[in-house]
Amino acid sequence: MLIRRRRPWDMPEASVTPEALFLDRRRVLAGLAAGSALVAGATPASADGLFGGLFSSEKKAPPAPPEPDPTADLYPATRNPAFTLDREITPESVTSTYNNFYEFGWTKGIWQTAQNLKIRPWQVRFDGLVEQEKTVDIDTLIRAMTLEERLYRHRCVEAWAMAVPWTGFPMGKLVDYARPLGSAKYVRMETFLDPDVAPGQKDTRWPWPYVEGLTMAEATNELAFMVTGIYGKPILKQYGAPLRLAVPWKYGFKSVKSIVRFSFVEERPRSFWEDLQPSEYGFWANVNPEVAHPRWSQATEELIGTGTRVPTQLYNGYGDSVASLYTGLESETLYR
Ligand code: MTE
Repeated sequence: MLIRRRRPWDMPEASVTPEALFLDRRRVLAGLAAGSALVAGATPASADGLFGGLFSSEKKAPPAPPEPDPTADLYPATRNPAFTLDREITPESVTSTYNNFYEFGWTKGIWQTAQNLKIRPWQVRFDGLVEQEKTVDIDTLIRAMTLEERLYRHRCVEAWAMAVPWTGFPMGKLVDYARPLGSAKYVRMETFLDPDVAPGQKDTRWPWPYVEGLTMAEATNELAFMVTGIYGKPILKQYGAPLRLAVPWKYGFKSVKSIVRFSFVEERPRSFWEDLQPSEYGFWANVNPEVAHPRWSQATEELIGTGTRVPTQLYNGYGDSVASLYTGLESETLYR
């Protein structure tokens, strides 16, 4: 029996249409009778009941200030000049109100609902193939690292892009901290699981918690970055506070948010989106403008907040640093 699960990325109209256009359409649709087939076609009817604050992005109010952060004194960190941009930094007012964080809802306007996430205390677990399993408090972990700022491009699989100043530390340093055994081949990362706080996690059709994975070579590549801050401040909740990943040569869904667990494993982890739709989302997910998503082109990307589209670059422009990671893996599905 074929069971077709309904997911946001089954709706290319919602997924790859610039949000402003999509919301305009919603305003029109809002005038129609509730529960009409047309509304259900553009936006799953179940979502209105499932997720609070669904229309919050239309207000575009500034985000609530984060709760006090015991590591706030570490910001702003020194910018690492090795990581430069070919484009303007996307304003905070844009990136903080246009987010993918499906735990809190499936529109881009989840920033208000995400404020319910409690980010202190926050424990991070290191387990699997490590010398010794351990659980560490996020503030202890952050203070064990040297924070730096990096300007990175970010390319979502939905064909939108942004450029942001992340603050954090190289993932290689986190791997050193975890002390994995030589037999570890992959790092599996897991987001928190708390349906009382994250309404999206109440939908049991989705394989919560959100999981992502990298090979050890990817995790220790100089570009793989653990993010604790943005725009010179501790990271806001909607971006995945207090600890998220940034792997800028891959589609954004690899950059897992609000991480609570790193497991060092021998077998390739099966990630959240791969689990939901293996024909569309794979393990590698390297950006490639020539390999279309089954439902849309990846040749260009919308720079959010600008209304312009630019050509997408192979590995999102980071090929010099990462292309060699994939030598000999050509038979794999590297670009999806
Ligand atoms: N991590 C979790 N836990 N849940 C998510 O829904 N969305 C991913 C990624 N990490 C996601 C996640 C996707 S699809 C993208 S494009 C980026 O987060 C978006 O990051 P941003 O909201 O900070 O721009």
